[in-house]
Amino acid sequence: MAYQNIIVETENRIGIIEINRPKKLNALNQDTITELHQAFDLLDKDSETRAIIITGSGEKAFVAGADISEFADFGPDKGRELSLQGQQKLFDFVENLGTPVIAAINGFALGGGLELAMACHIRVASNSARMGLPEVSLGLIPGYGGTQRLPQLVGKGKAFEMIMTAGMIRSEDALKSGLVNHLTEPDDLIEFSYQLAEKILANSSQAIKAAIGAVNAGFKDGTDGFKKEIELFGSCFGTEDFEEGTTAFLEKRKPNF
Ligand code: COA
Repeated sequence: MAYQNIIVETENRIGIIEINRPKKLNALNQDTITELHQAFDLLDKDSETRAIIITGSGEKAFVAGADISEFADFGPDKGRELSLQGQQKLFDFVENLGTPVIAAINGFALGGGLELAMACHIRVASNSARMGLPEVSLGLIPGYGGTQRLPQLVGKGKAFEMIMTAGMIRSEDALKSGLVNHLTEPDDLIEFSYQLAEKILANSSQAIKAAIGAVNAGFKDGTDGFKKEIELFGSCFGTEDFEEGTTAFLEKRKPNF
């Protein structure tokens, strides 16, 4: 598939998506959001791809936000549509993908960029990265899930502070507050993210998909996460991976998923 704004590669069952608009600090315009949707969808449907890493090209930015030039003249209806479309196509889509997604945050992750990183299942940041939700400085609020996912990750008080001040935090603060899982030196970011993905690869992809569904269910209004866990736990017993995993344990060998 030919893309204009992203680069997609697969190596050893790990897909890597690089957002490639470095002159615009990888800002998310509509075309990039559409291409990201297509790339995530294709990688998820490819049974050979078992984990995905997303990062930004260049040294400066993961993603410096939604592309402000695209919505500067919007009114309320178009604004609502922008948020709805973006959430459906990319942010909710990534969060609910059956394939685990790691955000490798290589620089500025602002606005929609931090929202994209927060929609991923795991976040690793370079120690040079800066993160924030600056939307109120533009007269907006985060519209790609930031008001919901930031409090889930860092707690309500810290989220309010970040949103209200529109400030950027350093990666050490992001680690302390639980916004990111790990910090690395800039040059080690991708290698570290690969190693993390490889640990995931050793396990059952069918069980990981079920775990993503169960964990996410607890954060959905009107869904009983415990009930969802019971249902998904049960469904695991019908998978080939369950048969292989338990057989391998009893035969004292490593499972071959
Ligand atoms: N949307 C559109 N273009 C953006 C962008 C965004 N979110 N973020 C950066 N760019 C563009 C700049 O307009 C500039 O383009 P130009 O060279 O054609 O003028 C280019 O990327 C480089 O950015 P610049 O601002 O010159 O870099 P800097 O090092 O001085 O500042 C930032 C870096 C990240 C602090 C600054 O770009 C910024 O504040 N960006 C907007 C962040 C934001 O508010 N995001 C939330 C959007 S809802």
